[in-house]
Order: sequence, then C-alpha cells, then structure tokens
Amino acid sequence: MSVLITGGAGFIGSHAAVEFLNAGYEIVIMDNFSNSKPVVLDRIKQITGKDFKFYRADLLDLASLDKIFDENPEIDSVIHFAGLKAVGESVSKPLEYYHNNVTGTLMLCDSMRRHGVKTIVFSSSATVYGAPDEVPIKESARVGNATNPYGETKVMIERILKDIYVSDKEWNVSVLRYFNPIGAHKSGLIGEDPNGIPNNLMPYITKVAGGKLPYLHVFGNDYNTHDGTGVRDYIHVVDLARAHLKALESIKERRGIDYFNIGTGTGYSVLDIVKAYKEATGVEIKYEIEGRRPGDIDACFADPTKAREILGWTAEYDITDMCRDSNNWQRNNPNGYGE
Ligand code: UD1
Repeated sequence: MSVLITGGAGFIGSHAAVEFLNAGYEIVIMDNFSNSKPVVLDRIKQITGKDFKFYRADLLDLASLDKIFDENPEIDSVIHFAGLKAVGESVSKPLEYYHNNVTGTLMLCDSMRRHGVKTIVFSSSATVYGAPDEVPIKESARVGNATNPYGETKVMIERILKDIYVSDKEWNVSVLRYFNPIGAHKSGLIGEDPNGIPNNLMPYITKVAGGKLPYLHVFGNDYNTHDGTGVRDYIHVVDLARAHLKALESIKERRGIDYFNIGTGTGYSVLDIVKAYKEATGVEIKYEIEGRRPGDIDACFADPTKAREILGWTAEYDITDMCRDSNNWQRNNPNGYGE
C-alpha cells in the first residue's frame, strides 16, 4: 500500500512527506515545481533516510496522472496538496486559479476513480468560512462567501468531493481546514519559501529577522481584538502534517466523508507574534502600524475539538516552537532553497 502526495515538494506537502515516511508509509510524490524546488526532494530524503518515487507532473495533464497510477498500482490513497495558494494573485488571475485548483482536482479524481483509488485527504482552508459569525469556529459553521477566488476554489472543491461521495459511497474523503500554518521542520532543512515578497505574516517576519526587509508593516490596529491587530490561529506545520496521517488512518476505518478544523484553538494577534518571536529567538522585529489590508477580518481561530475527539489529534507545538523553528529555517537558508 502506498500514498500519492500531490504537491509533495511544497511547504506543507514536504513536511507531510517526512511524517508519512517516518511513520513507515511508502509514498509517491508528484509536483510540477510551480512554487517549489527539486532540492526539497533531497532534503526529505536527508531528514528521513528513506527513498520514494517522484514524478514531475501537472494535475492538468491527465495522461501523466494516469501514468502515475498505472505504474504504481499499490497506491490506495491520495493526500492532495497541489494547488495555487496566493490570495492576492488569485484576485488578478481568477482563470488560472479556478483552472488549476478546480479542474486539476477534477482530473485527479477522474484518474483516481478509473484506477479504483477512492480515498482522499484534501487540503482545505479556514478561508471557506469567510468572515465567521463567531469564534472559535466549529466545522458546522456556515461555509461559503470566501472573499477571493483562491478561497472560492477551496469551497468549490469541498462541494465537488461531497458530490463525488454522494454518487459513490466507496469514496472516503477527509477534508482538513487549515488555519495559519507556520514554523518549519526542526532540522532546518525544509520550510516555507514563498516567491518574491511574502504576503503572509510569518514569512515576512523571518525576512525582517534575516535583514532582507527593513520592517514589518502591521496591517491595522483598529480591529475588535485585545490589542487592535488581527488575531489568527497559528499552527506548527509539523503538527499540521501529522494531522494528515491521523486523517488518513481515521477515514480508512470510519469511511465516508468528514471535515476537520486543524488549528490549536488559540488566537494570537500580530503584536503577540512579534513579542513571541523576540522571546523565542532574541530577535527584535521592527514594525510600523499601517492601514488595514482589504479583505482581512478581526479574528479567526478554530474549535479543534472534533479533530481531537475523532482523529485523536491535537497540536503539540506552541507559539514559541513555531517562532523558533521559523527563525531556524530562515537562518539556515537565508535565500530559501536558492535558484
Ligand atoms: C491568509 C489568507 C488565507 C490563507 C492563509 C494561509 C488573506 C486575506 N487570507 O490568511 O486565505 O488561507 O493566508 O496561511 O490573505 N499581517 C500583517 N502584516 C503582514 C502580513 C500579515 O500585519 O505583512 C497580518 C494580517 O493583517 C493578519 C495576520 O497578519 O491579521 C495574518 O495574516 P496572513 O499571514 O496573511 O494570514 P491570513 O490573512 O489569516
């Protein structure tokens, strides 16, 4: 039995690959390197001391997908990370986002079905809740009204997976709604390496810490939160990666379709993170308060009870670990994975 990991060279995919290999799984990785680098594969091997098959392939290329399943008949489940994920870019490139994410998933599921592979764990996002009516957010909260095309692709894919399951009860579907993944593997060998100037908070902070950017722009201090800055549920990427192992094991046993929030359940503001970073690493992050970023909300954090009760999963790492490991990755790889 083996697991296909789509997008396995990406930030979350690479950490998941490590956890699956460490847990004794055989894996096959596919990635088109649109937002990742081949060297990631060597790093995964270096961390785990294990080997795996890799395909450079695109989800939109059905023949390549079929080839992967044809050549690896032992694949019995898929962890599906591959997709475009930059919120701002999705607003200016909706066609690319809908096509890559939605059509890509349709192609993947079509190939899976024809090869009798009907177990999938899907990378969704807390973004499917839009502006939540209340926090902490439960899985039963209203889904939809994402504020950008990227978020809409996650909403659409969740609906598609549900309809596939309704049409054929042999499918087992686990949808993981991630909150804000940060941190890096403790080895400092793999981590987040966004293209260009980072949009998300932690990659921006690590660039400031490494002297690549002068200061952090804090987007607004007039939110309805304890210090006025936006509150989010940051989750260590290794904890998040482990949730996929639990989700796969659980869905194979329980069968059907299920949805889980993957967060710690604790919200931290932007200024809390700046403070925690200093405490964890000794590095002072200079910042300036600026206007709000369009589309941002006051607070977003999970009620992770369902994941604990059904998956037996809880986050083990705290905010200090997350800041320390993000900083360690940045120090070891000041230019990310390089060219
Ligand atoms: C963003 C995406 C979300 C995606 C998630 C992935 C938006 C609107 N949402 O969530 O769809 O799933 O990333 O992790 O982009 N901040 C600053 N300065 C910065 C960057 C961020 O003050 O340079 C603040 C933001 O205003 C926010 C918090 O930091 O309050 C977190 O921002 P970010 O890391 O971009 O994540 P989200 O906005 O929660």
